[in-house]
Amino acid sequence: MEIVVTSADLLREPSDLAVLACLEHTPLPAELATLIEGADFSGKARQQRLLYPRGMVAPKRVLLLGLGTAEKLTADSLRQAAATATRQAQELQVDRLSVGLNGDLALAPTLIGQALAEGLALGAYRFQRYRSELSAEQKFAVAGATIVATANAEALQAGATIGQTIARGVTYARDLVNTPPNDLPPAALGEAAIAMGQRLGLTVTVLDKAQLIAGGFGGVLAVGQGSANEPRFIVMEYGTAREGTATICLVGKGLTFDSGGLSIKPADAMTTMKSDMSGAAAVFGTLQVVAELQLPLHVVGIVPAAENMPSSTAFRPDDVITTLSGKTVEVLNTDAEGRIVLADGLHYAQRYRPAAIIELSTLTGAIVIALGAHAIGMMGTSQELADRISRAGEASGERVWQLPLWDEYREMIKSEIADMKNIGGRPAGSITAAAFLANFVGDYPFVHLDIAGTAFAEKPTKPYDTPGATGVGVRLLSALLRSYAE
Ligand code: BES
Ligand code: ZN
Ligand code: ZN
Repeated sequence: MEIVVTSADLLREPSDLAVLACLEHTPLPAELATLIEGADFSGKARQQRLLYPRGMVAPKRVLLLGLGTAEKLTADSLRQAAATATRQAQELQVDRLSVGLNGDLALAPTLIGQALAEGLALGAYRFQRYRSELSAEQKFAVAGATIVATANAEALQAGATIGQTIARGVTYARDLVNTPPNDLPPAALGEAAIAMGQRLGLTVTVLDKAQLIAGGFGGVLAVGQGSANEPRFIVMEYGTAREGTATICLVGKGLTFDSGGLSIKPADAMTTMKSDMSGAAAVFGTLQVVAELQLPLHVVGIVPAAENMPSSTAFRPDDVITTLSGKTVEVLNTDAEGRIVLADGLHYAQRYRPAAIIELSTLTGAIVIALGAHAIGMMGTSQELADRISRAGEASGERVWQLPLWDEYREMIKSEIADMKNIGGRPAGSITAAAFLANFVGDYPFVHLDIAGTAFAEKPTKPYDTPGATGVGVRLLSALLRSYAE
């Protein structure tokens, strides 16, 4: 969707659909106040009224959207309103919509532009690649949106351009996650990385099984050995290490499908497990954003990719495997496979001597129980990095909530026969998983983000999400990396 900003009066510009997002307790423009019973619209959050002004103002249709009170307003209120605007345009089969704001918003104009653009673009997201029988109505796509403002057009435009870039990154991540696992085995994920690298000028390396064996990637190999679809190890590099620029490593779990392996999942828990590469998708999407915004950083994306399947060649409970680091792992449950591939990914990250290692994974069902779909679980070894990510979470609307990573939790994964075991029992399941990962990052500042509850929404609660992949992580990491680039 094409998004532009113009300096004008929303109600004097002809439009098939003008959307006015209104703060609560703010009077409507006089021309509109006469078109509606006052009590019918107060501007409370998520309220909607569609007006047909019949020539009283220039637009054919006016949609009033409530933003709620000024005190409660966040950038996410705007993101949600903008997504609702696009959805309404979609339903009304309107080619172009215009969007304006009513009330004094205590947010910087660039932030307003960014949030509006993200909402407008993401509200239009659909995944129709596998639908062969769509009607013209179902295929209809809103072509563009104009943000109409009486002031600050330049700052709004700057923000909108960033927001559109981020939304494209989110869209890319969603497409990767929504793609069914038969069409996106580890090799295809590797090919996607190479294609993205060519498109954006990244340095991409994809190691195949023979190279993994030669290199000693025992974790990725073990998890992938039960599948005919061989594992890959993907490295994508943007920028180069220079004096004065930080190197940031982003590590994403790339399980293109997680059946649980021999510790097989029940049928109901296995569906949606194509989304077990959502961490990887977030890394792909973020690298696209970073490259398109040309941030002055050195960012390395690392994705261990495998398919976890049960078979006569699969790794088993009771196996002891030697990871890339040389540390050994006693496997007690093959469904706790993410931490095993990530052990290799995190160890590999150390070769870049990074200022930060940020790892994203759909790692534990326990985080779904703890936080549901409304926060990413965060655990880490650097409070400074964790605080920085918390701030990026507030700014991006992809909020994180930290859990402790005390030494006591590390005790819970000690093994009798190997350096550690891959499960710590049901208590604190998300934290013992993080404690496992922390064995592979050396002394580098490290934060683990558990996105198992936020990556895939069967019944989304936000208008910018659709059923399926959310693309979580791209907005958060984009905010974080932009903070390093400032
Ligand atoms: N990929 C799953 C975690 C998951 C669960 C992601 C629900 C998305 C939604 C992970 O590999 C897994 O199966 N974890 C196990 C670990 C357990 C065996 C210690 C879990 O959480 O049950
Ligand atoms: Zn699993
Ligand atoms: Zn998994």
